[in-house]
Order: sequence, then structure tokens, then C-alpha cells
Amino acid sequence: KWKWSNRQMKKIIEKIEEVVKEAFAASEYDEKFAKVTVSNRPDLCEYQCNGAMAAANTYKKAPIMIANSVVEKLQDNEMFENAEAVNPGFINLKLKKEFLAGYLNDMLADEKLSVEEAKNPKTIVIDYGGPNVAKPLHVGHLRSAIIGESIKRMGRFLGHKVIGGVHLGDWGLQMGLIITELSKRQPDLVYFDESYEGEYPKEAPFTVSELEEIYPTASGKSKEDEAYKNEALEATLQLQKGRRGYRALWQHIMEVSVTDLKKNYAKLKVDFDLWKGEADADAYIPAMVDYLKENGYAYLDQGALVVDVKEETDTKEIPPCMILKSDGASLYNTTDLATIVQRMEDYKPDEIIYVVDKRQELHFVQVFRCAKKAKLVDENTQLSFVGFGTMNGKDGKPFKTREGGVMRLERLIAEINEEMFKKITENRSVKDENAEKTAQMVGLSAIKYGDLSNQASKDYIFDIERFTSFEGNTGPYILYTIVRIKSILSRYAESGKSVDEKTIRGAVNDSEKALMLELSRFNSIIAPAFEEKAPHRICSYIYDLANAFNSFYHETKILSEEDEEKKASWICLLTLTEKVLETCIDLLGFDAPDRM
Ligand code: ARG
Repeated sequence: KWKWSNRQMKKIIEKIEEVVKEAFAASEYDEKFAKVTVSNRPDLCEYQCNGAMAAANTYKKAPIMIANSVVEKLQDNEMFENAEAVNPGFINLKLKKEFLAGYLNDMLADEKLSVEEAKNPKTIVIDYGGPNVAKPLHVGHLRSAIIGESIKRMGRFLGHKVIGGVHLGDWGLQMGLIITELSKRQPDLVYFDESYEGEYPKEAPFTVSELEEIYPTASGKSKEDEAYKNEALEATLQLQKGRRGYRALWQHIMEVSVTDLKKNYAKLKVDFDLWKGEADADAYIPAMVDYLKENGYAYLDQGALVVDVKEETDTKEIPPCMILKSDGASLYNTTDLATIVQRMEDYKPDEIIYVVDKRQELHFVQVFRCAKKAKLVDENTQLSFVGFGTMNGKDGKPFKTREGGVMRLERLIAEINEEMFKKITENRSVKDENAEKTAQMVGLSAIKYGDLSNQASKDYIFDIERFTSFEGNTGPYILYTIVRIKSILSRYAESGKSVDEKTIRGAVNDSEKALMLELSRFNSIIAPAFEEKAPHRICSYIYDLANAFNSFYHETKILSEEDEEKKASWICLLTLTEKVLETCIDLLGFDAPDRM
């Protein structure tokens, strides 16, 4: 697609280090000492090398002498405006403006903004979402969807083959509960007639909203009524054993719920390649169980089939992984293991990533160990658990509705959108027909950025007030910055002017240079963020970038500049800033409107 030969993909810090290495070598010092880092004293320099201090031991010389001779070799280099040795032996570096501008021009000309794709692309399955069929989506599923979607997008951007799977909870007690409740309400339905052999109706005997009422009612009853609960357990077992009428009802429940789930995920800009669930793993269980038994991995313990997964180095007790209960029923472990078997068969992934509530960590420790031990996966198949913390309300307790109930996702989104709509129409003059759509886009950025800007494993407070603010470290602030840039660019275009490639010139002031330095860091952000499965790194980068842009913007009259070359350079710089910001928000899973 793009011309590889022209791609300049080296990170700017690598380019700098290369030159510093040469300088060390030219001074007869080992180049391994030439490690360059981003300066921790931006008031003094932009990059620094502390290698002279380490080299001092080896060469039995004062560090400042070493630093001095290295720095001498760096004078007149086209890369540095200033290379200075400072006591006791620091090497402080400032980039030449033209060099920095050149780097950005190459970036702008590159389709991937100089981000290098993985040399050995991996096949990765990412298991996220995890909604339970027939139960409405609630905020607990929000984090998995948001974080998982972002990790998926990062992986793809870096050239990996990433397959997103929703892994529905579609095989558990909730199904038996619905069937039981339905059998009470409409006992004459053909699904309950065991002697019936004909075809079942195409149309489901309930709607989504009915389903959403049936489940909680049944669940409530089962908590109070032991006999009712046993009936539901029995119905679950019958379903899993393949009773025709129940399977047909199950199909209906699936169709109705999945249609609704898809609609809701689409609102979040979250989508899945695989709409499989626990039920799909069922077919893999018998052979897997035989295999585990025959190869001596699993044994009977008080009637239950288990696999030991504890390890010598454990500091806390890891109980055995239970594969079958004494009544032969399968468990959460079993479907997850069978799903691993299925995924290995279908995709042979190099890695499977699970984005699930961190309270499920023990479950995944057991499943992963069992899969490795029993060789259900290859030796180098990586199994990764991204455990996320709880989304809390302002009171520090798990997020609830004002009335104290479980917050449904739909309602949460509607509330945010309403808030955004108010803000947008109060402050700005966007025409009404656009305001609603804009409110949805900005609202989504508020929700997603509010979540993703925190380290995933931490709990965080869902604060509508703060998340929807146009100021501070928020999604709307980032979008506002992008919209500001878009507006300048379109006004420039309306003036009939256009710019050529490679037009960015050396910075004319400190704030412009600071912006350019932030931009040049872009290609060193994405790969580590993906390796660490840490979208919050992208958030903190774009927050810095947006701040750098806004400082520059406030100090610079761009469109009224009379020097056309200067103006053209700034327009290019803005174009690049916009591209970087838009790429990043796409990786986070939201978009910017044209106006707001
Ligand atoms: N359905 C589960 C829940 O709501 C989450 C599923 C997570 N994924 C998995 N492979 N176990 O708790």
C-alpha cells in the first residue's frame, strides 16, 4: 500500500542515540554507554545521555572528561542545536529546529505516521464483552467492551491479526430460569409438549422487553422458592442435554437478545468478529474430558473431576480446577477450557487475551494453568488476563442508578447524551438537527475517555460532571481541540490556498517547538501501549499533545499571519496534529465531529 523504501520509521530517540553512539565510538568509548532518554529537566534540554557517569568506572576517568570529549564530537552535527556537557557528567541535548521539522515532514508523508508495523505479526484472539444473554447489558459489561475494543484496535494498527470475540454467557442457569418462568405463564406452548415432533414456530413467543422482565422475575422467585429453583436447575440440565423444545426456546432467546445486544454495542462503536458463546463450547467438552482423563491430568475427587493446578512457588492456595461436578454438570471453567480448545482448532492463535473484571482473576489463573499443563494450548501460546477494576459512583461504591438499582447501559448512555446535549446547545450555535448527533459523539468520548484514561486494573469513579467537561483531562477536551484544528484548516482551505508536502519549517518559538517535540514522540507510544495492553498511555499522550497544541494556538495568530510560508508551515503542522489526534481517538474507539 505505501512505499516501504520511503518510510522513515525509526523513532526519533533511536536516531538521536545512533549519533550519540557514533560520538562515543569516535572518542574511543564503548557505544553501549550512549543511552539516550527524554530529558527529565525540560527547562535545560530535550534529550539527555547519562552514559559518561557509567563509563567513568570502566575507563577510570572523571565523567565530565568523557562527556566533554563526546560533546566535542557532536558539535556541528545537523541534529543538534546544542550539545553540552554539564557537571558531574551529563550530556544535555537540544534538537535543531530544522531536523525536527524534517522528521515531522516525513511523518506527515507516511500513511501510518511513521509507526512501524510488527515484524512478526501475531494471531490474537481477544475475548471481551462477555454479556449474559437475556440479561440486559449493565455497566459491569461496559469496561470490558471499552477496554477490549481499544486493545483490539491497537493490535490491528500495529499489523497483528486480531479476532474479537464476544463470548456470550448463554449456557447457564439464566436460561433455565426463563424456560421455567415461561412454562408457568404459558404452559400450553408447544415447546413444553415432550411428545411434539413437528417443527417449532419461527416467531419467538416473547419480545426483548418481555424477556427483560421475565428474567428478573424468575431470578427473584428462585431466591425465595427452593422448589422453583430446582425446577430451573433441572430445566438448565435438560437444555444442556439437548431437549428439543428447550433448545428451540433457547434459539428464540438467543435471537431476540443478540439482536438487542448488537444494537447496544453499535451505540458504543464496539463490534465483534465472533458472536459465539459458552454454548458453542459445549460440543468440545466430551472429547476434552476424555482427553484429560486418559492422559492422567484429571482425576476424581469426591465424585468431581478435577485437575491440580497449584505450583510450588504459590504464596496463596490455588484450588484445583474443577472440570465436572459430581452430577456430571460442566462449570464456568469447563466452558472456558473448551473454548480454548475451539479457538486453537479454529485459529491457532499466538495469544488469547481476556478482558474481564479482575475479581475473576483466580478463575483465569486456574483455567490458564490447566490449559498449559494439559497442553490444550501450544507451549508458546500466550494466555493473558487483563483484569479491570470496578466502576464506582461518587460515593465510592459500585455505580448505581439514583434509585439504587443496577444501572443499565442504555440508560447510562442516554443520561450522558442528555447532559452533553444541554452543554452543547447552551454554549454554542450548532443547528438543532446536528446537536443531537454531536451530543452522541461527544458523549461517547466522555464515557470512553473517562474509562480509558485510568489504568485498567484500578477502580475509578464515574463522574458525569467531570467526564463531560470541556476542560481538563477529558474526552470532550480532546474533541474540542480537534474541532478547533479542523475549523482553522477549513477556513484556510476556504481562502483558496493549499500547501505542499514537506512544508513544515523550523519552529519559530518555544511553544511551537514543544508541540513539534510531542508530535515526534507519537511512534514511540503505540507499540508499548499495546504490549502493556494499556490504552491509558494513549490517553496521557494525547492529553499532553492537546495541551501543547493549545498553548501554541493561544500564542500564535495563525490565519492572520502575513508571511505566507510561515502560515503554510503552521497549516501543515496543524494537519499533522489533527492526524495524530484522530488516529489516537480511533484507537481509543471514538470519533470527532466537525463542529461542536
Ligand atoms: N459472562 C461473564 C460475566 O458476565 C464474563 C465472561 C468473560 N469471558 C470469559 N471467557 N470467561 O461475568
